[in-house]
Amino acid sequence: MRAGRDAAPYGNAGKAADFVARNENAGRKAEMKSVLTIAEMKERARRRVPKMFFDYADSGAWTEGTYRANEEDFAKIKLRQRVLVDMTGRSLAGEMAGEAVAMPVALSPTGLTGMQHADGEMLAAQAAEEFGVPFTLSTMSICSIEDVKSVTRKPFWFQLYVMRDREFVENLIGRAKAAGCSALVLTLDLQILGQRHKDLRNGLSAPPRWTPKHLWQMASRPGWCMGMLGTQRRTFRNIAGHARNVSDLSSLASWTAEQFDPRLSWQDVEWIKERWGGKLILKGINDVEDAIAATGSGADAIIVSNHGGRQLDGAASSISMLPKVVDAVGDRIEVHVDGGIRSGQDVLKAIALGAKGTYIGRPFLYGLGAGGKAGVTRVLEIIQRELDITMALCGKRDIRDIDRSVLLQD
Ligand code: GLV
Repeated sequence: MRAGRDAAPYGNAGKAADFVARNENAGRKAEMKSVLTIAEMKERARRRVPKMFFDYADSGAWTEGTYRANEEDFAKIKLRQRVLVDMTGRSLAGEMAGEAVAMPVALSPTGLTGMQHADGEMLAAQAAEEFGVPFTLSTMSICSIEDVKSVTRKPFWFQLYVMRDREFVENLIGRAKAAGCSALVLTLDLQILGQRHKDLRNGLSAPPRWTPKHLWQMASRPGWCMGMLGTQRRTFRNIAGHARNVSDLSSLASWTAEQFDPRLSWQDVEWIKERWGGKLILKGINDVEDAIAATGSGADAIIVSNHGGRQLDGAASSISMLPKVVDAVGDRIEVHVDGGIRSGQDVLKAIALGAKGTYIGRPFLYGLGAGGKAGVTRVLEIIQRELDITMALCGKRDIRDIDRSVLLQD
């Protein structure tokens, strides 16, 4: 195993300050403040991010039916409008996996985040830290664990994909520990990659290939190009220089086929838990039987998830599975949910159905693509405001009092 070539020392205040100065800009903050919805942020990202990377975030597997169902099933849930209740002194604060959060919304681990915007993972981690919600760094990130550590002060979470090369996995766990990560999010639903037609058609790779099509996609997004020219971070830096025998790091599809371990089992979860020794969150459970199995794994929480509809097309939406999972295991393990959350109203509905925490992936990527760190901050503000107003109009003042009684059940 080679030593990390890009390790940056934590607490390097000068370097972090330089980084912030390079990425903060008053004009951009003002522009982001004018955005009112996640849908609007998505359209701004579409105009700023090269098509192959915008599509990567926006895609689901095969027909994208599960991707759509994740969003549509939230819209079917109706809220009870209550009146003449005291709405003063409201609070959204709570805990996720034992950590204090300003609201029960974490940033999901998302691959290639640093391709939505230069240094994307570092900027999103800073935005989350300042807002008081967890940031989860993906194994498939562009910026490395050490990069993110170098510009943050509070612990972030790390998401682990299990590779065939267990020495590499142990090393990755060791790096997450050394960086002070406070939870490990183990993804269970991507031992092999779901087929996403957009990525295949676009010839997705990181960094992009130098074909006329790809050059045109980039040239038509000059702001994105300027950012990318100003950073060295353009490949999978958790892997590059750390793993052996990785032949084609640029193509997600060939890389996962070659490196990810398709034999991952519950025994491996135990092996990982032992090596990690800290808080463990299992991501990608969308079935009651699997949720019951997870209660015996010693994990601290599970995330009801179908990987944003990117893996098994035809699977049930995660919000429709949530109450079934909560009813089966909610008294034994903390249950979180992701998939389809596009507003604070969706967060409230998930909490009402028994989730202790929620995650946003695409919304924060849209913010990042549209406006860097200011865009991610704006996305969190939009969701927070929607959550707060919705809670009040449902007659509640504290997110900890939210239960199924706020939903209209017929
Ligand atoms: C990786 O996590 C992906 O869904 O592309």
